[in-house]
Formats: sequence, C-alpha cells, structure tokens
Amino acid sequence: MLNFAILSAGNIAGRMARTLDSLREEVQPYAIAARDSARAQALAGRYGFAKSFAGYEALLADPAVDVVYIGSIHPLHAQHIRAALLAGKHVLCEKPLTLNAAQAQSLFALARERGLLLAEAMWTRTLPFAQALRKTLADGRLGAPRLVTAVLGEAMADIPRIAQPALGGGALLDIGVYALTLACLALEGDVERVGGVCVQNGLGADIEESISLRFSGGACASLAVSARCAAPHRAAVCCGGGRIEIDGPLWSPAAMTVYGGTGTDAPRETIRFDNTGTGFEPEVRAVAAALAAGRTECPALPAAETLRVLRAADALRALWGVRYPGEA
Ligand SMILES: NC(=O)c1ccc[n+]([C@@H]2O[C@H](COP(=O)([O-])OP(=O)(O)OC[C@H]3O[C@@H](n4cnc5c(N)ncnc54)[C@H](OP(=O)(O)O)[C@@H]3O)[C@@H](O)[C@H]2O)c1
Repeated sequence: MLNFAILSAGNIAGRMARTLDSLREEVQPYAIAARDSARAQALAGRYGFAKSFAGYEALLADPAVDVVYIGSIHPLHAQHIRAALLAGKHVLCEKPLTLNAAQAQSLFALARERGLLLAEAMWTRTLPFAQALRKTLADGRLGAPRLVTAVLGEAMADIPRIAQPALGGGALLDIGVYALTLACLALEGDVERVGGVCVQNGLGADIEESISLRFSGGACASLAVSARCAAPHRAAVCCGGGRIEIDGPLWSPAAMTVYGGTGTDAPRETIRFDNTGTGFEPEVRAVAAALAAGRTECPALPAAETLRVLRAADALRALWGVRYPGEA
C-alpha cells in the first residue's frame, strides 16, 4: 500500500488528513510534517498517522514516504515540489500547482526525467461531476459548446494568504482557477486571447475580476470572480443545441441540469452529485490508481490541463500588471 505524507499542517492539509484517514483500506496515512512540530504532531495524532516530523526536510528524507501531498501556500509550491521530486517522491500538490506556467513546465520536466508522478490537486477534475459534464458534451446531443459563463465569489479578502501578494494573494490563483478549469473542462483548444479587468487591493493583489477568454476552437468564456463578496456560484455551458446549467459550489457542483434542443426550454435531465465526504477521495484514488498502473501521469489530472489554466492566468495577470514578489 502506498505511504502518503502531508507537507504542512494548515487548513487544507487537515482536510487531506481526514481524507487519507477515511481511505486507510486503500492507502496508508503515513506522516505529516509542519514547520512547528506540535502542529504536525497534533494533526497526525488526530487522524492516526504513523509519524510526524518537525520541518519538511525530515519528511522528505524518510525513505518510506511514497507520495507527498503539498498543502503549503502557493508561492512555496514550486520549491516544495522540487525538493520532493529530488528526494524521489511522487507529488500531489494543491492548486495552483505553481505561480505561473513556466515554473510548472520545468517541474513537469523534472518529474518526467526522474520517472515520478506530479499532479495538481485540482480535485474538481476528478469528481463524478466532471465525468458527467464531459460525457454529456461528448454524446453530441447538445451540439458543440460555444460559451461558458461562470460566477463565483467568497468573502475572504481579509485572510492574509488572499490579501498579501507575498503569500500568493489574489482571487485568480485561489478561486479563479476553478472558473478557468470549468471553462477548460468544457472547451477545447488553447486560450488564444484574454481580456478583462480586475480590482486590486492596496497591496496589489487582485481581489475581484471580470474575465473574457477566447479559445482556439472559436468558443468563448465569460467569468466573474470575487474574493471580496459571496457571489452565488453558478455556471452554464451553452451549446448550439442546448445548454448545461451548473449549481455550485463550483469546485464540487451539487447538480447540473441539461436543457436540450432548440425551441424549447424544458429541462431534459437534472443530475445531482453526492457531495458527502471531503471530496478529495477521488483525487487520492486517481493518483493511487495511476501509480498502481505504473504511470507517471494521472489521467484525471493531466499536466497539459494544469498548463492550459496557468497560461491563461499568466496572460490575465500580464494584462492587469499583477505580479508576485520574486516570481520567476
Ligand atoms: N483544494 C481546495 O479545496 C483548497 C482549498 C483551500 C486552499 N487550497 C490551497 O491550499 C493551499 C494552502 O491553503 P490553506 O487554506 O490550507 O492555507 P493555510 O491554512 O494558511 O495553510 C498554509 C500552510 O502553508 C505553510 N507554510 C509554509 N511556509 C509558510 C510561510 N512562510 N507562511 C505561511 N504559511 C507557510 C504552513 O505550513 P505549516 O503547517 O508547516 O506551518 C501553513 O499551514 C493554497 O495553495 C490553496 O490554494 C485548496
């Protein structure tokens, strides 16, 4: 059984710890490391992990660790991924994988070189929702998807890691990536043109934005993202012969309703999704299955999709003049 370890003991690390505890018949909740040993010990104790470590280096030096889940703040993802890969560990890292596409590309290259798996924990992609969306679009009854609209907002602009660029602040890389992912789940091709506006806080972090995208296949997306107000999570994938309306939360949708045909607006079908559990179970299973099959890429979490989203985010930030300190 694969030994999973968690690097950091913050909010999302706690959720992953609970997930791994609930999956202990499939994977081994092995170790947790935090900068502070008491925090690592507390989280490991709460969820029955075998070991805890003070400091991340000690965890990476343990030869029994197979997979490292990285739950640190996003400016640190690149350095934590690199250290884990160099220590010979497979990596599942929280979204956004890195601050920009160039960082991600070089880390995917390093993972390939070392024969290790590197995947972004964009859990939405692994949920039954994503499969249902793809299947509905692929069966062709609705025609080609032409327009994706999405709105999502959370009142969280005062949280330091959202407010401060040095901690990876900004709406785009924190929750905007879910809107970009949704658009990329539905639409094919590269994002060839971006437009839009953002509002920055006094520190320069983007806290609210209105985004326009054009994909190389000719489709468009219109996305509104706020980190300063609790906007309803709603999305639609509009096709030539009908549409799919999606009920939030947009990271793990509760339902999607298919409206079919031309000349009628009657819903054809509503699919509801079971959102019990943490929602991280499918991504853990997807990584474990990929490794069991000897793969170095998780099919549900492909590098190309991480890069597609990060390139769009790069282009939007370039348009707005939003940069992170020390970004390279
Ligand atoms: N998938 C999801 O649904 C989801 C939801 C929320 C967040 N996230 C992602 O998860 C990541 C962490 O978010 P979070 O909400 O868990 O944040 P958080 O509670 O603030 O935890 C972040 C962790 O980063 C670590 N860290 C290491 N060096 C740090 C430094 N110099 N300053 C601050 N923190 C430092 C800390 O680890 P130690 O414990 O070792 O001190 C801290 O516990 C972000 O990249 C975010 O995008 C994902």
